[in-house]
Amino acid sequence: MQIQFVQAPTLKQKPADESKLGFGRIFTDYMFTMRYDRAQGWHDAKVEPYGPFQMEPSSMVLHYGQTIFEGLKCYRREDGGLQLFRPRDNFKRMNISAERLSIPAFDVEDAMAGLLKLLEVEKDWVPHAKDTSLYIRPFIIATDPFVGVRASNTYIFCIILSPVGAYYAHGLSPVGIYVEDKYVRAVRGGFGFAKTAGNYAASLKAGEVAHEKGYDQVLWLDGVEQKYVEEVGSMNMMFVLDNKIITPMLNGSILAGITRDSILKLAASDGYQVEERRIPIAEIFEAAEQGRLQEAFGTGTAAVVSPVGELCWEDKKITLSGGKIGPVAQRMYDELTGIQWGRMADRFNWILKL
Ligand code: COI
Repeated sequence: MQIQFVQAPTLKQKPADESKLGFGRIFTDYMFTMRYDRAQGWHDAKVEPYGPFQMEPSSMVLHYGQTIFEGLKCYRREDGGLQLFRPRDNFKRMNISAERLSIPAFDVEDAMAGLLKLLEVEKDWVPHAKDTSLYIRPFIIATDPFVGVRASNTYIFCIILSPVGAYYAHGLSPVGIYVEDKYVRAVRGGFGFAKTAGNYAASLKAGEVAHEKGYDQVLWLDGVEQKYVEEVGSMNMMFVLDNKIITPMLNGSILAGITRDSILKLAASDGYQVEERRIPIAEIFEAAEQGRLQEAFGTGTAAVVSPVGELCWEDKKITLSGGKIGPVAQRMYDELTGIQWGRMADRFNWILKL
């Protein structure tokens, strides 16, 4: 695949204070794009200046939400070199989301070539401070100017980059989670497993209610019985119960997190018992009452490993690990970030050095 380079007339100032990056507010000078139409397939690949798309108000994505995205990061090692964590897994998962949303598949190697070329141009945007990285957001939008309901015939694939710090403003300190008992995020046969806008739009209302009650995030229960733990939306959930690490099994309505999979592999190789199964929320609260629930934490690219300090379900509240990060979450955080930032051996072959 040929990738054209279009020079930006001016470049932006890079953030002076890397301790104040926050998450997802600053974007770099360039983006990667390619376009799709039925006659040419994916074509017209470019690294071009970051900027607005020309698109019609009738573009299908604006009306029916035919769009998908991914999230991964580029890390700077202590020796200054750059590396990616399991990037092909993100593009493979993006094609799984594409299939569900009737978006044409792309060649994973074309997407990799586009990403690598973009990163070559933007390498100075990868921040240096501890726990910072360059967040990579690939996405596809449907662009046919048409307001009938069908799959679009034209699309834009785009990758934008954002230097980031911690996803949660309070970093590694534990988050408070509200177990949602009214709204649901996904149902059997729906597209809960896909990284698509609708799943996130569906979560906003419950997120607002949880914030009003003083919680950071919502824990979703299954959409049929509202009995079983699903995910948090920006992260998968894990619990340490009777010294075992348990997490909801992949059932089609939760995201197959790459961080989730990495933590399961790290934990198993560290000798922890890990279990993927249906987890009734009542079991979690019962185990907490009996003193058997040791920890809870979320996993995700943006969230990394985020300890949960408090869980609220109906009128019941539990506090975990004395409101601090527990030893298992700390160990998983240290090992995962150790590999991602190149401080520890890449024992699973997850790293791609640039
Ligand atoms: C990620 O972890 O990369 C995500 O996509 C979650 C997000 C919605 C911020």
